[in-house]
Amino acid sequence: MQYIALVTICLLTSAPYAAPVASKYLSDEDLAKCPKDAGQAGECIKIIMNELIPRMRLGDPELNIDPYDPLVINRLSFQYTVGPISGKVSVRHVKIYGFGEHKVDKVNVKVNGDKVKVRVVSNMPTMNLLGEYKSELNVNSLQLKPKGIFNLTLFDVELRVITSGDIYTKDDHQYLLVNDIEVKPKIRDLIAKADGFFADPELDEIAVNIANTYWRDIYGIILPETRQSWAPILLRLINQAMLHVPIDHFIQPSQ
Ligand SMILES: *[C@@H]1O[C@H](CO)[C@@H](O)[C@H](O)[C@H]1NC(C)=O
Repeated sequence: MQYIALVTICLLTSAPYAAPVASKYLSDEDLAKCPKDAGQAGECIKIIMNELIPRMRLGDPELNIDPYDPLVINRLSFQYTVGPISGKVSVRHVKIYGFGEHKVDKVNVKVNGDKVKVRVVSNMPTMNLLGEYKSELNVNSLQLKPKGIFNLTLFDVELRVITSGDIYTKDDHQYLLVNDIEVKPKIRDLIAKADGFFADPELDEIAVNIANTYWRDIYGIILPETRQSWAPILLRLINQAMLHVPIDHFIQPSQ
């Protein structure tokens, strides 16, 4: 059981990179070092993930692992309503730097029949997001259409990720399908820079200062509101990788 858990978590939490890695980078000896006690598998998985995360940051075409530092998001858009403000934001060519410095602090795995639940607490010292944005804002009867480039820097990001998945059998192999992911970030501080809000650069600066002052409120609302946009992207990335990983390949036969 603990081996199922081990493989699962590598797949689930470090998303596209850890899973297929196992076949190429992890020997049976590595796996054998994991304690037999399922309750302690988390610690072992943590060590393996922390070794793999920096190593695979540039991706590996052979293993079908996309680079993740930077992680590139071509396009994402969402709508939101915050008090009297409603609008639509589209971002393009977004590069997210920092996942290669991602450190796993704690892993907890529960396997129940075909169901797997994995909780991971991890942290990143900094995360930097660069990209282009286009938006439509409605404030009462006023309509603004800012667009331009943005640069967000997040400091001391703690991520709490909970994933659930099912083990299924196809062509005599077992695979894992992740069907839910929940991400709860905590951010100590953030610096936002953007241009294009107003024709006047001074007004731009005022708008960005307001955003920097109220970012906790803004992200507290926007993150859950945009879940519909980012959760499917994460799930698709994870599941794409896992289609290529028959997990029974890594499970030691217990008989
Ligand atoms: C983005 O902002 C950060 C923090 O203010 C800064 O250090 C970095 O150089 C900026 N990056 C770019 C590409 O402008």
